[in-house]
Amino acid sequence: MKGRKLLLDKIGISGIETFEIYKKNGGYRSVEKALKSMSPEDVVEEVKKSGLRGRGGAGFPTGMKWSFLAKPEGVPRYLVCNADESEPGTFKDRYLMEHIPHLLIEGMITSSYALGSNLSFIYIRGEFMWILHILEKAIAEAYNNGYLGKNILGSGYDLDLRVMPGGGAYICGEETALLESLEGKRGNPRMKPPFPAVKGLWGCPTVVNNVESIAAVVPIVNDGGDAYAQIGIGKSTGTKLISACGNLARPGVYEIELGLSVEEFIYGDDWCRGIANGKKIKACVPGGSSVPILPHYLITKTASGENRLMSYESLADGGFLSGSMLGSGGFIAFDEDQCIVRNTWNFARFYSHESCGQCSPCREGTGWMEKVLNRLEHGEGNLRDIELLEEINKKIEGNTICPLGDAAAWPVAAAIRHFRDEFEWHVTNREESQTRNYGLCKEPVTA
Ligand SMILES: Cc1cc2nc3c(=O)[nH]c(=O)nc-3n(C[C@H](O)[C@H](O)[C@H](O)COP(=O)(O)O)c2cc1C
Repeated sequence: MKGRKLLLDKIGISGIETFEIYKKNGGYRSVEKALKSMSPEDVVEEVKKSGLRGRGGAGFPTGMKWSFLAKPEGVPRYLVCNADESEPGTFKDRYLMEHIPHLLIEGMITSSYALGSNLSFIYIRGEFMWILHILEKAIAEAYNNGYLGKNILGSGYDLDLRVMPGGGAYICGEETALLESLEGKRGNPRMKPPFPAVKGLWGCPTVVNNVESIAAVVPIVNDGGDAYAQIGIGKSTGTKLISACGNLARPGVYEIELGLSVEEFIYGDDWCRGIANGKKIKACVPGGSSVPILPHYLITKTASGENRLMSYESLADGGFLSGSMLGSGGFIAFDEDQCIVRNTWNFARFYSHESCGQCSPCREGTGWMEKVLNRLEHGEGNLRDIELLEEINKKIEGNTICPLGDAAAWPVAAAIRHFRDEFEWHVTNREESQTRNYGLCKEPVTA
């Protein structure tokens, strides 16, 4: 069993959401250590050593991102925490902020010190208003105890921290759309380059990091980057929060050590305890709605017969032909009774609704995909529609300013790749497909 916890270990301690109890249980040590005995560069170095990869979805190395931050003389730098969390299937940041808000505040202080930011922001999904209040309370406590404000712990370092409610759109989680929204504008993604590290908030150098990435800085500074890098497997170091949902016997938010086998995660007693009601697993989406779906025969084993692990590399093994992605850690399981066409249509509806409309391939393409999938699902499609979906997909992928287009295209492409028979069955058995589901897909026979 891989069960070490670095972020959720204190959850369950009564009153841990208060400054007093959090501090009593070892909280704010990383701030004390960093401000009293480390230079900002030392902190960046530890984060580099840890091998931490961004937990927002793309998995970009955090230490490397930090070292790209431009430092022009006399220009402020900003740290912005991305707490927008709107990806279907992903609800781990919400859990962390709700249950142990001071961990994020501590991470923000230590990280802001490392980056030389004197004004930092937490941009939180607008619908999470109750969590915004939890964070505001925690921030007020940190100010009252001298961990925020002027001359923190007598170190000469000043930091103000603000929480901002988001614009109520999935696109506001894309880092440049987030910055636009934070500036008070409509959340439309910006063209890159320039990247935020050079020209971010109000045109100043900015780092945008996910909630979990920032929280992970706390154990990294406390125990050292090398100790963090010892946990996990290969280039997937440390622990990862996974929000598990769908037809699981025990859905929830779990902290796993990267490298845990997918089989253990789904069926293990310490984790999801298998598929609900004793059913068989049909498919899973391991990293949030944007990543390719895996059919049952590729979930616990890769195409080459290796054990599939919860890691960036193993989940991607096989590329888009037979792999997927760890993404944001939103793990959705589908049992044998679920309809893949219906689910693909459901995801497509989401992306069509959430496209910001700036790029025509995404604005038009997501709408067309939604319409075609709608008619396939409702027994009104034809076989040509399946090819049409593939054609639209190719027109969207890689042709948009931000990756929302790819995020909309990949799930459809993967669903057709692995479940083409089921899509065709919806056309050839129109009536039956309205009352009955197709069941498990067959494993392709290889010579
Ligand atoms: C449409 C879209 C939505 C996104 N939503 C989020 C989000 O809610 N939270 C998040 O951390 N990253 C989100 N991202 C990724 C961010 O653009 C960015 O890569 C991330 O915040 C960087 O943090 P990290 O390096 O710590 O992962 C989204 C990206 C796209 C394209």
